[in-house]
Amino acid sequence: MGKIMILNGSPRAPKSNSKQYAEMFSKACAAETEYFAVTKTNHQAICHAMDGFSDVLLVFPLYADGIPVTLMRFLDTLAQNAPSRKPRVSVLINCGFLEPEQNNIAVAMLRLHCKENGYPFGSVLQIGSGEAILSTPFRILVRAKVKKLAAAIVAGQSQTWKVTMPISKGMFLKASTRYWVHYGKRNGITKEQMATMQIEQ
Ligand SMILES: Cc1cc2nc3c(=O)[nH]c(=O)nc-3n(C[C@H](O)[C@H](O)[C@H](O)COP(=O)(O)O)c2cc1C
Repeated sequence: MGKIMILNGSPRAPKSNSKQYAEMFSKACAAETEYFAVTKTNHQAICHAMDGFSDVLLVFPLYADGIPVTLMRFLDTLAQNAPSRKPRVSVLINCGFLEPEQNNIAVAMLRLHCKENGYPFGSVLQIGSGEAILSTPFRILVRAKVKKLAAAIVAGQSQTWKVTMPISKGMFLKASTRYWVHYGKRNGITKEQMATMQIEQ
C-alpha cells in the first residue's frame, strides 16, 4: 500500500476548513498519510519530501472560482522541482456556495496542470457549502464521501464525487445571510458596510 501526502493549500491553513477535511481524510484512510500545510517558505521542503509518496491529496478552498494563490505558487515551484517519481494527484476541494459544481473550473485547472507536468490524475471530491456543512448534522454526508475518496485513492482509481447540504438554494441563502449579518454585528460591522470594497481594508 502506498503512502499519501496530504497538502493543505488554504491561505489560512491552521484555522481552515481544509484542515478539518484533511483530518477527516486521515482518519478514514487505510493507508499511511502525512499532513503538510503549504506556506510561503516551505515549497522546496515539500517538493523534496514528495519523493517518498505514491499519492498526493490536494485539500484546498475555492477562491474566486479558481485555485488560491498559496497553492498556485506552490505548483509553480513544483513544476521547477519535480520529484524523481511523480505521485498520483487527487483533489479534495470545498467552496462556500451551495453548489459543488462551483468547483468544476478549479478542478479542471488542476487536471490541466497535472497533464502538462506529467502527473497521473486520481480521484476528486467536490464539497459545496464547505464552511457550513461541518457544523451541521449533514457532516455525516461529507464523512461518507471522504471515506469513498480514501478507498478510491488506496485502490488507485480515478473517480469523482460531489456533496453538499441537501437544502434548497433559498433556504441556504437565508441561513447564510443571517449567519454573516450576525457575524458582522459581533464585529461592529453592518450589512451595508459588508457590501462595500472598504471591507477589505
Ligand atoms: C477570497 C475568497 C474568495 C472566495 N471565493 C469563493 C468562490 O468563488 N466561490 C465559493 O463558492 N466560495 C468562495 N469562497 C469561500 C471559500 O471557498 C470557503 O469559505 C471555504 O470553506 C474556505 O476554506 P478554508 O477554510 O479551507 O480556507 C471564497 C473565500 C474567500 C476568503
